[in-house]
Amino acid sequence: MNASATVLILGANSGIARALCHRLAARKYRLILAARRTEELETQAADLRIRHGIEVACEPFDALDFDGHAAFFERCVQKSAGGLEGVVLAYGSMLPQATTQTDLTAAKRVLDANFTSPVALLSLAANHMEPRRRGWIAAISSVAGDRGRQSNYTYGAAKAGLSCWLQGLRNRLFHHGVHVLTIKPGFVDTPMTHGLLNPKSPLVATPEKVARDIDRAIHRRHNILYTPWFWRGILTIITTIPEALFKRLKM
Ligand SMILES: NC(=O)c1ccc[n+]([C@@H]2O[C@H](COP(=O)([O-])OP(=O)(O)OC[C@H]3O[C@@H](n4cnc5c(N)ncnc54)[C@H](OP(=O)(O)O)[C@@H]3O)[C@@H](O)[C@H]2O)c1
Repeated sequence: MNASATVLILGANSGIARALCHRLAARKYRLILAARRTEELETQAADLRIRHGIEVACEPFDALDFDGHAAFFERCVQKSAGGLEGVVLAYGSMLPQATTQTDLTAAKRVLDANFTSPVALLSLAANHMEPRRRGWIAAISSVAGDRGRQSNYTYGAAKAGLSCWLQGLRNRLFHHGVHVLTIKPGFVDTPMTHGLLNPKSPLVATPEKVARDIDRAIHRRHNILYTPWFWRGILTIITTIPEALFKRLKM
């Protein structure tokens, strides 16, 4: 890993991304922070510069502006020092399952935020890194994508699609020296889950804990990260329950 190289963070205002930025900054990467709320981005960038003495650039970014993706990505490449070493996909959107069952525009928004736009943006990243034969992509999917449950299957399906797509991308880019990490967090105490989880529950992790795991997995070139680790065991059990039984459960 070339630690003076540039890493692009898509969705840099997310709870997990904020914590991860400090980890990457401690490794002295140059960072490009991309998100919708630019005022907050600038505050975060100033904090990272002061604490870690690194270069940080900011770029306005809306993942659902598909027509603007190519120009956005080109601006990020221009801002990098000789190309992007890493791209972190850290944004996502979860709406109540009931809403997505009756409002198909909302359902499409969830699919676009968690699957279609990651495919579009990470394709640009892959096509940038492939000929350079270096770099890494780390994308946050979810344990929710490992099995469809009645309480969250629209979001889960989008994440399942993303995990599968990343698997194929990893297979493609392996032959070109580019590494792809799929990140599957369990419950994390961030704005996305505010009011839905008890932050004191032992099943709920802090963004800092998850960021530490992600940072380690990127630099050890792991393929799939369950974070915290015990979610791998939980999902092994959940995915082995026979469908005939699983459909009767209320999950
Ligand atoms: N929290 C959990 O329990 C959990 C579990 C598994 C996976 N995840 C995944 O972890 C990732 C990070 O989420 P988080 O937990 O850190 O929650 P978060 O703090 O709520 O972050 C979600 C971020 O996504 C951004 N976003 C949503 N739609 C966007 C769009 N169209 N364009 C650009 N940015 C957009 C939001 O931007 P704004 O700040 O502008 O609203 C927000 O910063 C997501 O992919 C999420 O699905 C979370």
